[in-house]
Amino acid sequence: MSVSGNWIAGQRVTSDETFEVRHPHDGALVATACYASDADVERAVAAAHAVRREFAASPAHARAAALDHVSRRIAERAEEIAQLITAENGKPITWARAEVGRAVSTFRWGAEEARRFSGELQRLDTDPAATGRMALVRRVPRGPVLGISPFNFPLNLVAHKVAPALAVGAPIVLKPAPKTPLSPLLLGEILAETDLPTGSWSVLTTTNDKAAELVRDPRLPVVSFTGSGPVGWSIRDAAPRKHVTLELGGNAAVIVNDDWTDLDYAAERIATFAMYQAGQSCISVQRVYAHRAIHDDLVGRVVKAVQAQGTGDPKDPATRVGPLIDVAAAERVEQWVTEAVAAGARVLTGGSRDGATYAPTVLADVPADAKVSCEEVFGPVLTVAPVDSIDQAFDEVNTSRFGLQAGIFTRDLQVAFRASAELEVGGVVIGDVPSFRADQMPYGGVKESGIGREGVHAAMLDLTEEKVTVLTGIAV
Ligand code: SIN
Repeated sequence: MSVSGNWIAGQRVTSDETFEVRHPHDGALVATACYASDADVERAVAAAHAVRREFAASPAHARAAALDHVSRRIAERAEEIAQLITAENGKPITWARAEVGRAVSTFRWGAEEARRFSGELQRLDTDPAATGRMALVRRVPRGPVLGISPFNFPLNLVAHKVAPALAVGAPIVLKPAPKTPLSPLLLGEILAETDLPTGSWSVLTTTNDKAAELVRDPRLPVVSFTGSGPVGWSIRDAAPRKHVTLELGGNAAVIVNDDWTDLDYAAERIATFAMYQAGQSCISVQRVYAHRAIHDDLVGRVVKAVQAQGTGDPKDPATRVGPLIDVAAAERVEQWVTEAVAAGARVLTGGSRDGATYAPTVLADVPADAKVSCEEVFGPVLTVAPVDSIDQAFDEVNTSRFGLQAGIFTRDLQVAFRASAELEVGGVVIGDVPSFRADQMPYGGVKESGIGREGVHAAMLDLTEEKVTVLTGIAV
């Protein structure tokens, strides 16, 4: 089997340090990939640094055309890419197809925003001393970006690093997760079809040691990281003078208020988005707080809906829940559930493991300090608890040290606005689970869930800074 090479300053390059990418469901070999050599990493960084001024000065139409091309080509190769995502990541093919559709949209948004992105004129003649003056406020790239992406959305979370960087004219060196390098490398094939300048993008897998060096490299003044909290915060500590954006995890909660009458709908949404991608999304539903008046009824329906989420081969369109990324991840989830049960939790359904697959699981009576409640499970495990009031529900959501997104099922406008104001998260979803994300909306967390926002336009703001030009002696 040939080796899938990295993309170094737009060229495909292999190295001798190879590793195998295996299908999480059955361990079958998907491809052999390779870590970039030290020389190749240096070449990618040097090229990004060298091209930074030329790329920042490139016309918007050229960047937009490249992004449109990428969007179109992903759409043309959609099924091939979806199969590849499922092969390397193990997510059910239905969700892989959905991810590809989202990446088409993320790049399309990048093209559209590249055309729109402008500065503003600010009048300065508000004081006599500045009569006849005006400021031109433009946004300019902070510099080349180191993008580090996770395994759980191997294409679309890469798109969220690459599209905004290219849209603003910031070179990007992307380091995908070593578990899922193949979809990012295939994206490299598509990027190589564009006229983007040499050095404006590289896609390379590195060892963790090398990634730490990249984080410290002053030629990459921006680091955009999506992944686990401990790694994210260690990046921030290692590079205190850099502009660091962190999209980290959470233990997303949903509230079901007693005014919500369609409990079947709420149960179906909760079950689906607690278990989708085997819970491996930062905004999958982990905690449910249901008003006591409807709690038992809701939980009965949630358990039924969870039991309908069949596990199996992720290539089979009937499979709702596939394996976790590897056996070690499933073993960790198993361990956390065992600990919770030992501390008094009750298993309402699930609670067993078969290799890398963990059965969709619902737990009740979970102590607040059990890991399945207060840490990010990143597995198909849901906890349910009754609350007596909306105030108590808000308190429960806010006790978390995380704050990415939260959902609330309510039709009461006052409660909805209170949720929007009082829940300590980056996004509140009214009438649905916290797992909803549209790729153009600002996305990111508060507290330990991170710093900064993605979502194409928000990320473009994040990757740029204001630069002021004062115009003197002009008619304002
Ligand atoms: C994430 O896991 O943070 C991304 C969720 C999504 O894009 O839907």
